Amino acid sequence: MAIRLGDIAPDFTADTTHGTIHFHEWLGTSWGVLFSHPKDFTPVCTTELGYVAKIKPEFDRRNVKVIGLSVDSVESHHRWEGDIGETQGTPVNFPMIGDPDRVVANLYDMIHPNANDTLTVRSVFVIGPDKKVKLTITYPASTGRNFDEVLRVIDSLQLTANHKVATPANWTDGGDVIIVPAVSDADAKVMFPQGWTPVKPYLRVVKQPNR
Ligand code: BEZ
Repeated sequence: MAIRLGDIAPDFTADTTHGTIHFHEWLGTSWGVLFSHPKDFTPVCTTELGYVAKIKPEFDRRNVKVIGLSVDSVESHHRWEGDIGETQGTPVNFPMIGDPDRVVANLYDMIHPNANDTLTVRSVFVIGPDKKVKLTITYPASTGRNFDEVLRVIDSLQLTANHKVATPANWTDGGDVIIVPAVSDADAKVMFPQGWTPVKPYLRVVKQPNR
């Protein structure tokens, strides 16, 4: 069964390159990103893991723990980490789940048999501190993901979790935002005393509140 937004992220215990983890316990009060890659020692995956390692400080700054997964073993991941370090110029600084029995891959519906019946697709799950799934993304094996976009969505999720705003197309942190339709103009006057631009009654543009 597919995992939907708002579902509790399934809990599991798994071997990783950083030892055995109990997923929910490992997440603690942090946000989480769980992402799968189809196979060890493959070119696109190598570049993805190197890029995530490079921008890990950006995930840390947002209180987000990152964890990768493939259906290869932890021993294989360890061997592959050497290649990633050598070719991408950075050590892999986050855990990778070894899932040769596809327990976690099946739990998260990461294998799409009509694409490939043994390897995972490129799934991304963003999980909130409440353990609920906030974002799911699925890419095909042949397309490397844009992890800057994952950071951008996390910025939006963290902003909109605390303020009654939504973020417009292509928004990035610091850009103007939109007052959610559920807030009346009367309530908006209290919440946004600096005022807003009424482009339409339902499209009220306001400065990003936490700036
Ligand atoms: C890759 O990571 O390069 C890859 C993995 C599986 C299929 C195609 C490409």
